[in-house]
Amino acid sequence: MSSSTVQNPLKAWKSFVFPTAIKFADVFSVLLKAGLAFCSFSLVFVFFYLSRSYHPPHYHHKSLSRYFLQSDGLTGGDNPTNISHILFGIGGSAQTWHTRRHYSKLWWQPNVTRGFVWLDRNPLQNETWTEPEKTPPYKVSEDTSSFKYTCWYGSRSAIRIARIVKESFELGLNNVRWFVMGDDDTVFFTENLVTVLQKYDHSQMYYIGGNSESVEQDVIHSYGMAYGGGGFAISYPLAVELVKILDGCINRYSHYYGSDQKIQGCISEIGVQITKEPGFHQVDIRGNPYGLLAAHPVAPLVSLHHLDYVEPIFPNMDRIEAVAKLVEAYKMDPGRALQHSFCYDLRRNWSVSVAWGYSVQLYPWLPTAKVLETAFRTFMTWRSWGEEPFLLNTRPMSNEPCERPLVYFLNRVENMGEEQTRSMYTRHVEDGEKGCDRVDYAPAGAIQLVNVTASQLLPDWWKKAPRRQCCEVINDDNELGGVQVKIRGCYLFESVTPS
Ligand SMILES: *[C@@H]1O[C@H](CO)[C@@H](O)[C@H](O)[C@H]1NC(C)=O
Ligand SMILES: *[C@@H]1O[C@H](CO)[C@@H](O)[C@H](O)[C@H]1NC(C)=O
Ligand SMILES: *[C@@H]1O[C@H](CO)[C@@H](O)[C@H](O)[C@H]1NC(C)=O
Ligand SMILES: *[C@@H]1O[C@H](CO)[C@@H](O)[C@H](O)[C@H]1NC(C)=O
Ligand SMILES: *[C@@H]1O[C@H](CO)[C@@H](O)[C@H](O)[C@H]1NC(C)=O
Repeated sequence: MSSSTVQNPLKAWKSFVFPTAIKFADVFSVLLKAGLAFCSFSLVFVFFYLSRSYHPPHYHHKSLSRYFLQSDGLTGGDNPTNISHILFGIGGSAQTWHTRRHYSKLWWQPNVTRGFVWLDRNPLQNETWTEPEKTPPYKVSEDTSSFKYTCWYGSRSAIRIARIVKESFELGLNNVRWFVMGDDDTVFFTENLVTVLQKYDHSQMYYIGGNSESVEQDVIHSYGMAYGGGGFAISYPLAVELVKILDGCINRYSHYYGSDQKIQGCISEIGVQITKEPGFHQVDIRGNPYGLLAAHPVAPLVSLHHLDYVEPIFPNMDRIEAVAKLVEAYKMDPGRALQHSFCYDLRRNWSVSVAWGYSVQLYPWLPTAKVLETAFRTFMTWRSWGEEPFLLNTRPMSNEPCERPLVYFLNRVENMGEEQTRSMYTRHVEDGEKGCDRVDYAPAGAIQLVNVTASQLLPDWWKKAPRRQCCEVINDDNELGGVQVKIRGCYLFESVTPS
């Protein structure tokens, strides 16, 4: 925008200065008018420029101007961020892409999402991929053999992956506000990614992502870092500064293990801090991710990673099928995916805890809200396969059947029109699981299915202060064998308090 507004007054000026055959007075008056016009135009321009003074002014002294012209982040992009403003940079390798691309297929939208998967070499002739149009196109990374890498337990590929942000930037694509990095086994929930990025001013320097769930990882690698597999977003102005120092910085941090750690080292030299968003999930856990997913924080689900390293997220399915099922539910109501709601049925002293689009737990007693919001420890730490600690609070799943809730998994989601959905969850019993024989547990034990109705959580809802939504159990004596739950916004003074 700025370059074209500067040119217009100059053009006008020329035609004022060189008119054919005119009198001196005319010339004078014309010059005066032109001068005035130019001054007022300049004033307007300067005013406009100052009014957008959140642009860090020192940018304009650098020789990177050709990149600024390509960035609507710095030349008048006031309309809300959408998917077209994101350039994805996916770290892959020719060897793993063959299988990992199935994760990309779950979220990549041909002709909508922009970006590339970056490979270490061209795929071999005999490695033909079916449906290449359904996955990000690939590029081959530049050679990195001249860089230093001294982490004895790591892999040099970290250098190549760290440089993806630079190679993506240097493509010089138009209207990029955010560079979003991820791995070839990262599943992005792109509508929610957009919802989250819309909260931030893309013309400032932002570094947005999340930590590892395993404290041992954060201790070794950093709490100040956005973990690469969970994905992270770098705003255009930060990318401008980062790419300038990146190569030197990669050598300075040659002893760092991962690409994400090297990136954070460089960003810390600029002084920019991580902005943590709880929807990015590195999934640095082992075992069964159930507890983690069924207690999602009140924030849009942005990404899941490491799904090859945990059990399938739905029972009796393969890993890809299971994620595909969650993605299918997500598409019906992106903002609500995995969102937690819980409510009591005081007539029967039951509690219902919903992780929308995934699972329901039914307790034939009344645990406190604090207990219900805490994740079941169905998983272990990433590095040492230990019990604890995690960055989130957890509670053990009891071995005593009468102290465990009944668990239901998503069957399907239906669109009921008027931005309403009904999701259905059916009872799941683990192989060899022993039920509770107590008489007071029996009525709940007979419940085979739970239906949940909810209205869509639209992106605007996420602009408000985060609050878990309320729900109610709809009692209908005719519905034997099932429970009906309605999720809705909370009423004034409503809280989850058994009374
Ligand atoms: C995103 O916004 C830009 C304007 O900044 C617009 O040109 C583009 O069409 C939008 N893309 C989508 C997918 O809405
Ligand atoms: C994407 O765009 C290209 C070129 O416009 C078109 O040929 C192709 O069919 C489109 N693909 C999809 C999946 O829409
Ligand atoms: C492709 O050919 C190479 C040798 O040329 C071989 O090592 C590799 O296993 C082949 N890959 C597949 C998928 O057939
Ligand atoms: C529910 O719990 C309350 C408090 O423990 C108790 O007084 C009441 O009798 C219980 N109701 C049922 C139906 O079990
Ligand atoms: C749940 O929804 C299904 C499909 O609409 C319906 O057949 C069933 O009766 C409902 N069950 C309950 C308990 O509401």
